[in-house]
Amino acid sequence: MIRLLYCSQAKPEFNDETLDDILLTSRKNNSATGITGVLVHGGGMFMQVLEGPEQNVLRTYVKILDDKRHTDSRLIQISPIKDRLFDNWTMGIVEAEPLTFEHVAKLRSHRLETLNADAFTQVMREFTGMLVKA
Ligand SMILES: Cc1cc2nc3c(=O)[nH]c(=O)nc-3n(C[C@H](O)[C@H](O)[C@H](O)COP(=O)(O)O)c2cc1C
Repeated sequence: MIRLLYCSQAKPEFNDETLDDILLTSRKNNSATGITGVLVHGGGMFMQVLEGPEQNVLRTYVKILDDKRHTDSRLIQISPIKDRLFDNWTMGIVEAEPLTFEHVAKLRSHRLETLNADAFTQVMREFTGMLVKA
């Protein structure tokens, strides 16, 4: 299994309906492909963790990269894993405003090009500390 982390920018026209649509599709597909993870949305950004069988995660990531509802996707990390962080989540959602806005601001303050895996993992860890099961 692998875990893949990336972040991207939502398109300006992105709205709640678009998000609902993404979540519906994600939960349906991910439960079929054995993928779990979380999608963080806030401050015009997405951060997503995908974990599961290598080929399925990579195939899903390629579809996501191609999705016109977001842009400027940056791959942060791909690593082999033994255990999942999000076993029970076919795709959890965290709306990062207003509660966790400071975290998004922290990520934004790193230039996206230079955002490294440690900074990202740290912010994700802070998020997951606050997550309530979806
Ligand atoms: C930010 C973002 C996150 C997404 N996450 C997932 C995901 O976890 N799983 C998934 O199957 N599709 C996800 N999608 C949707 C894919 O880009 C694509 O639209 C979808 O997989 C197509 O599904 P289909 O092949 O069943 O039509 C995401 C899209 C965006 C913009």
